[in-house]
Amino acid sequence: MAYTITPMTPHTGAEVRGLDLSKSVDTETRAALNRAFAQHHVLIVRDQKYEPADFRNAVQVFGELQPHDKKEMHIPGFPEMYYVSNEQTVPGKRFISGESFHTDHSNHPAPPKATILYPVSLPSYGGDTQYANMHLAYDELSEAMKRRIDGLKAVHVYNSRYSPRELRPLSPESLKALPPPGVHPLVRVHPENGRKALFLNPVRIESIVGLPDDEALDLIAELMTHATQKKYEYRHQWTYGDMVLWDNRSVLHKANPDYDMNERRFLYRLMLKGEAPIPVPQAA
Ligand SMILES: [Fe+2]
Repeated sequence: MAYTITPMTPHTGAEVRGLDLSKSVDTETRAALNRAFAQHHVLIVRDQKYEPADFRNAVQVFGELQPHDKKEMHIPGFPEMYYVSNEQTVPGKRFISGESFHTDHSNHPAPPKATILYPVSLPSYGGDTQYANMHLAYDELSEAMKRRIDGLKAVHVYNSRYSPRELRPLSPESLKALPPPGVHPLVRVHPENGRKALFLNPVRIESIVGLPDDEALDLIAELMTHATQKKYEYRHQWTYGDMVLWDNRSVLHKANPDYDMNERRFLYRLMLKGEAPIPVPQAA
């Protein structure tokens, strides 16, 4: 089948047209899609028509499914398929998942390499997802800052006491299933494209090993201000049929609650297993 892969910006995001991933793809196409994913970090596969089972099959072109921490929110019959929704689940309170820049499930010792969304219901305007390229953000740091952070490690918990936003509470069952905190390098090396990337997540980072908390928080804030500049961004405007897959090892992402909350926004969400983040090799 003829298909095209077209970059969305010079650094982040590429659009794939002409493929139906609900059907199986040949080995060559699978390899080309995975190479494009490592190169562009966000893939937008257009014009897909999925029922939940199709979506589950489609994402496995890129890897193996990773269960979500919140066991209570899933598509009936599909325990690994979470959903993103603006519906009110706690009376008087509306949680918008991912409202500030973050990377998914970094509290895991081996965080998911990818997250994939597929829209079921979209608001008539707004609700874009923003992505910021952490390879480019790292590359453009000063040499002094690179030297300062290359060997640092951060402790990622489910919900940091310093988190800038409140997360939806977990059920007792989900709480019990949480892994131990992830202790991850602040700069990680991507196993496929070989590039270094900042690995930041203010929602989950509770401390940096060897630094007092105030110093750690100042450093994270400084890096976040740098890393989320518009020049590092691809902003995705959703269209029905878009399957959007992003690399949590390469980009931060953020949801936008800038639409009419009376309109329903509902997307299927899956994740793919990753590996323990690889640190930058340190001189002996
Ligand atoms: Fe997220």
